[in-house]
Amino acid sequence: MIITKMKKLLLAVVAILLISAGFGTWTSGRSQEQQVDANELRQNVRVSPLTSSRSFRASGTNLAPVLLRPKSAPASEAVNLILKDDGRGKDSPGGDNADVWMKSPISSNSLQNNSLREALYRISELENRLKEMEYKVPKKYPDVVFLNYKDRKRIMVTGGAGFVGSHLVDRLLLEGHEVIVVDNFFTGRKLNVIHWMGHQNFELIHHDIVNPLFIEVDQIYHLASPASPPHYMFNPVKTIKTNTIGTINVLGLAKRVGARVLIASTSEVYGDPEVHPQKETYWGHVNPIGPRACYDEAKRVSETLAYSYQKQESVPVRVARIFNTYGPRMHMNDGRVVSNFIIQALQGEDITVYGSGKQTRSFQYVTDLVDGLVKLMNSNYSLPVNLGNPDEHTIDEFATIILGMVGGSSRVVYKDAVEDDPQRRRPDITRANEQLNWAPLVPLSRGIQKTVKYFREELERSADSQKNTYNVENGPPTQNYIEERPLLTTN
Ligand SMILES: NC(=O)c1ccc[n+]([C@@H]2O[C@H](COP(=O)([O-])OP(=O)(O)OC[C@H]3O[C@@H](n4cnc5c(N)ncnc54)[C@H](O)[C@@H]3O)[C@@H](O)[C@H]2O)c1
Repeated sequence: MIITKMKKLLLAVVAILLISAGFGTWTSGRSQEQQVDANELRQNVRVSPLTSSRSFRASGTNLAPVLLRPKSAPASEAVNLILKDDGRGKDSPGGDNADVWMKSPISSNSLQNNSLREALYRISELENRLKEMEYKVPKKYPDVVFLNYKDRKRIMVTGGAGFVGSHLVDRLLLEGHEVIVVDNFFTGRKLNVIHWMGHQNFELIHHDIVNPLFIEVDQIYHLASPASPPHYMFNPVKTIKTNTIGTINVLGLAKRVGARVLIASTSEVYGDPEVHPQKETYWGHVNPIGPRACYDEAKRVSETLAYSYQKQESVPVRVARIFNTYGPRMHMNDGRVVSNFIIQALQGEDITVYGSGKQTRSFQYVTDLVDGLVKLMNSNYSLPVNLGNPDEHTIDEFATIILGMVGGSSRVVYKDAVEDDPQRRRPDITRANEQLNWAPLVPLSRGIQKTVKYFREELERSADSQKNTYNVENGPPTQNYIEERPLLTTN
């Protein structure tokens, strides 16, 4: 394991520094014959760094205490033992090692050696850091299916470190494919895919898709784009570039290498719809200069580009019109109903409903979406397909469901409606059903339950620290959110 090697190497280096510091101080006050051959000592350190005292005894030395600590004891223990000592041997460490510490010629002299104390502190810090790193890079990966060369595909997922992308990446890797994630981490994070870091089938490229990319792939899922209103409105021009220039780059790459492309479009292409539920044949009702236009119109152009490349350059394309999706790994500042309501309820704050609360939404759980994306990519169907859950609820109903699940004393409060906020949204999924044999399977109550658990842990984690750290004892949190492949299929 790389980390183990690193650990040995680092500890050996620190040991050599230690010996230089401690040995120098000690030998300065001793006779020539009592001094040991430093070269021999260093050689021994290289052969058997820190973990064994045998080599030092074999070389006739009985030197630095840190080198004499038992194999099982961490350096931090040695630090404690030494620092407990006041330098005059009054508070020498007891137990099995007491005589070793007491007899050590350096035990009293070294206590005045500040550099030695500092070095010991550093070893202790280093050990803690290594322990953290070991947790961050899990030794055991999730079990993946073995696919032979013929069946294994090399698949690029743009936006693969985001919410939907990371679940898709899990699914593709579990199925035995090679996955290359391309992400600029605008709204995504490494933590979402950390459980695959180092896996032979996984690669992560930090890249902005607005710039061209030259790699060899069989399939491309193009998900790179901020998805929630606060994120895509943050930098509208960049949102447009990602969904237009970025899409051109993806389609250009597909053309060069003969790959199939799936474009993650959105129900937003229907705008504030005049027909209900929305079929793929509906052309939409979008305000081209409204606050959401940077996303809605850019996605519409993205679809147009896909079909232009298909017609003109024979690039095989698939277009998924994704409706509202929720689940673990959603962004905390997603700003949409599910995350807003859950976070407010968990924090005991009032639940804010914008508008009358009578407007409707339909939410699908993320694994259902991933299932639909994979089916669409591998189908022979090339026209746009709605992927969403037709189970429609008013915003008021969502508030009640979430409040019931989280508990607490939050109240529902109403604020002015948001500009261009669609009043009704519900997919007609007849096409997905007929062409892909797909329908959502996860009931709202189960999905919300999992999402509440995720946000509860996220809130605890951010309360612990504003940084992306976590309790080393529990390991990376996202490991808990690898969803199993849905076992049921629809008919
Ligand atoms: N989540 C939904 O409810 C929903 C609904 C409709 C459509 N979609 C579409 O699905 C896709 C994924 O959405 P999500 O919810 O996972 O969003 P997300 O914000 O969690 O993920 C988007 C990912 O794309 C990355 N990204 C953004 N701009 C990029 C760029 N220029 N270059 C490279 N990477 C970039 C982000 O860092 C992030 O990892 C998006 O295209 C979105 O439009 C999502």
